[in-house]
Amino acid sequence: MKELLTRLTAAFGPAGREEEVRSLLKQELTQVGGPDAVVDDLGNLIVTRGKDADQKILVAAHMDQIGFMVTFIEENGFLRITPVGGIQAKSLPGMRLRFGGGTTGVIGQEKLKAQKDLDFSKLYVDMGVNDREEAEKQVQIGDTAVFDAPLVMEGNRYIAGAMDNRAGCTVLLETLRRLPTDLPQSVCFVFTVQEEVGLRGAQAVSYRLNPHFGLAVDVTRTGDTPEPQFKTPLSLGKGPAIKIRDSSVICHPRVTALMRRVADQNSIPHQFEVLEQGGTDAGAIHLSRAGVPTGAVSIPCRYIHTPGEMVDSADLENGVSLLLALLQTEWKW
Ligand code: CO
Ligand code: ZN
Repeated sequence: MKELLTRLTAAFGPAGREEEVRSLLKQELTQVGGPDAVVDDLGNLIVTRGKDADQKILVAAHMDQIGFMVTFIEENGFLRITPVGGIQAKSLPGMRLRFGGGTTGVIGQEKLKAQKDLDFSKLYVDMGVNDREEAEKQVQIGDTAVFDAPLVMEGNRYIAGAMDNRAGCTVLLETLRRLPTDLPQSVCFVFTVQEEVGLRGAQAVSYRLNPHFGLAVDVTRTGDTPEPQFKTPLSLGKGPAIKIRDSSVICHPRVTALMRRVADQNSIPHQFEVLEQGGTDAGAIHLSRAGVPTGAVSIPCRYIHTPGEMVDSADLENGVSLLLALLQTEWKW
């Protein structure tokens, strides 16, 4: 999985510009019978398995990542930016960004009376150019950038920007590779767009597919670092988390019960997630049409929405095992 994760985390894909991630996934899918992949009008990538079954599960992982958009180019060539998704201005000075065209920029900040007043209006991006004319040869208003943070592996851990949610994309793809053709219900794997700006791709694709059940695969925060901001028992390396709730969804109790049972029966290490802040595609899926019982598998991740997003390789493997077991179980109660 390392090779796949390396390529997926290196792909450029801020919300709204998922083309590169999608074409990489499509390329991978050709090896697992991918010609049946469909791309909807918003850019969601849909792959269906077990088409003839009565019931249908939608399994979603978002392709997009957080990023930045150019709002203004100063006379002297410095760029002003706005966040695409949830990013704290405070953590940004000194960071490197990469634009879609390949240009690198460094984030700088203006002088402030108090550092706590730092917000996006006080930040700029330095591309090493001398004036607006030179800058415009590299980027235009509305162009987007992501953290320049390629994958490294240290021990059992992967570190990269975009682990949110290329980790989930990797788990879905790996599951697709290993999934037998004979399934108790059909499964629509969807690689969604624009999760980071409000679960937008998932909202549209859920309407299209009209599933009986939903399942999102994404990353979640851990509490296993010194003095974590939010107290949670989740740790890296202790297995994928079965989501109970976050701020976008209270998972259907029958779905979480089924997930717990399947994990236990297959001796797959797992944890339970109660996330106080943050959401995922499950939030949009469960509110589609007349409502869809939905759950989520979360890959524990430290330093979410920074260039240092860190996951444990065993959690990815166990995430695939859990998903494989869940999709080979008949969903009924
Ligand atoms: Co995110
Ligand atoms: Zn995410």
